[in-house]
Amino acid sequence: MGASVAERGRCAVALAGGHTPRPVYERLAEPPLAAQVPWHALDVFFGDERAVGPADRNSNYRMAADAMLERVPLDPARVHRIAAERPDRDQAARDYERLLPERLDLLLLGMGADGHTASLFPGAAALHERRRRVVPVSGAGPVTERISITPPVIEAAREIVVLVAGPDKAAAVQAALGGAGPVEELPIRLALRGTWLLTADAAARWQEGTSA
Ligand code: 6PG
Repeated sequence: MGASVAERGRCAVALAGGHTPRPVYERLAEPPLAAQVPWHALDVFFGDERAVGPADRNSNYRMAADAMLERVPLDPARVHRIAAERPDRDQAARDYERLLPERLDLLLLGMGADGHTASLFPGAAALHERRRRVVPVSGAGPVTERISITPPVIEAAREIVVLVAGPDKAAAVQAALGGAGPVEELPIRLALRGTWLLTADAAARWQEGTSA
């Protein structure tokens, strides 16, 4: 983040949704970390959003706003929410794509127990999207209709951080980090070059494998 600000005067960050990032966002919004983040230079985006409004308890934006965005000195005009609740989600995706920089400086991603990331689910057609950078998708609950970044956005990101917590993710972590395989099977494989931050229970099976 600091390097991006030093080199380009700004840092374009895309946030992950779900539950895992919440404590990370909360810690970033509080001392001592809050003083180390260049909030004035951030442009905040999202990797995906569910087809709900910003006040909905299932909204990734709401989670990030409650945990961090509304607690730190960010310019609200530089926080770019995905309006996935719009009836025309395809147009909403096209509009969002125009806001995205050519390359994100930092992309935060989570992972589902099935190995999905953002709202790119195993076997999804969006995993083969090479032209559009943001598309409407259908996925798993709690809200099936979503908008997601596509593989080109992940591939172009300057830095990726993957946040994974919980024993239910251990099998997918082992499968993803334990050996090669198709992205269609485990979309999180798009982020293998990233920095993975794992809780011990999420890493348990992979550590077993690596110690073999
Ligand atoms: C979403 C997220 C998704 C999330 C994983 C993990 O909208 O669901 O962006 O990719 O990161 O589903 O979610 P948890 O952190 O809640 O396990």
